Amino acid sequence: MSDIIELDKENIVNTYKRFNVVLTSGHNSTLIDENGKEYIDFSTGIGTNIFGICDEEWKKAVISQVNKIQHTSNLYYSEPQVKLAKMLCEKTGMKKVFFANSGAETNECAIKTARKYSFDKYGENRYEIITLVNSFHGRTIATLSATGQDVFHKYFGPFVDGFKYVHANDIEELKNTISDKTCAIMIETVQGEGGVNALEPEFIKYIDKVCKEKDLVFIVDEVQTGNGRTGYLYSYMEYGVTPDVVTTAKGLAGGLPFGAILFSEKTANTLGYGEHGTTFGGNPIAAAAAYSVIKRIDDKLLAHVKEARKLIEDKLKNVKNVVSVSGKGLMVGIALKDGIVASEVVAEGIKNGVICLTAKTKIRLLPPLNISFEDLNKGLDILIDIINRY
Ligand SMILES: Cc1ncc(COP(=O)(O)O)c(C=O)c1O
Repeated sequence: MSDIIELDKENIVNTYKRFNVVLTSGHNSTLIDENGKEYIDFSTGIGTNIFGICDEEWKKAVISQVNKIQHTSNLYYSEPQVKLAKMLCEKTGMKKVFFANSGAETNECAIKTARKYSFDKYGENRYEIITLVNSFHGRTIATLSATGQDVFHKYFGPFVDGFKYVHANDIEELKNTISDKTCAIMIETVQGEGGVNALEPEFIKYIDKVCKEKDLVFIVDEVQTGNGRTGYLYSYMEYGVTPDVVTTAKGLAGGLPFGAILFSEKTANTLGYGEHGTTFGGNPIAAAAAYSVIKRIDDKLLAHVKEARKLIEDKLKNVKNVVSVSGKGLMVGIALKDGIVASEVVAEGIKNGVICLTAKTKIRLLPPLNISFEDLNKGLDILIDIINRY
């Protein structure tokens, strides 16, 4: 076993089921391990390195900011933050932005915003947030509470009160769950960790409508779906809906820890002086990286994502052990015939030079958004060959 793996086991808390690989470098869609072995990357560090490894333009943005100043705190104004916030507002039509460091933090901020919005207008008892069964919103106590999966509601209680869960796409159940205590509805348009399941458009549109009718805060968690991943800058844009709060992280800074909460007109001024804050949120290096990422998510790139999706679907459609392909854009879930264990396929992939993920019982692919068709074909051929062995 490599020294690094041994040292990890000795010194790092064992919360991850790691594969026996030490990734050390790479370029574009290629990852390289400590022994020099190459892999096609269909994982992007779980959806973060959206322009691949060590992309030249991304590096330029980061290095240029490193040469200026690495951090300033939020007590002072910051050019990278302002440039990024302006671009995010212009590209989405949202009105204001708050910067954080991770997906969970952005959702914490969304939860606080929803409750504060309701408190300001309706007083104390309107605090419930409806989320979906099988959702995933993060690992802090509040975002675990928001997560609609019992498996996450163990050991760490008491959890945060005031979350209700309804089944995805069940409009009747949602109608019956909304009460005079409800202040918000929070969804992922494609449940990522929950198994790469896209919500039905009618359900998303109903949520938008009911939130407007009842003055609820419509929160879309775009931590995994955002920043071009589904073939739209933000996935909600496909449905013609207008959320009140959008949270995004993962791919936003192309592989640096970063997150943003986007607020509509309705919620733009809900959080006031002293009501939220963070030391590192909005860090200039991460903000400069995010600016370079968001600038590049244009129609051409989004068209490439959709074309790449088509290629994946076409190639997988006649694979006998593939039952279905789910998700949107380059957020891909592959359901396999009963008895084929996705994590075993992923482990075989590593042996054979392709790095994939799992989501529940599915294989999950989150390749770089600009992956070449050549690399995509190469990685898929390896994966299909493995799936065909069963
Ligand atoms: C939809 C969604 N929300 C929130 C999170 C939490 O993000 P982070 O791990 O950056 O805290 C994740 C992470 O997988 C996610 O997929």
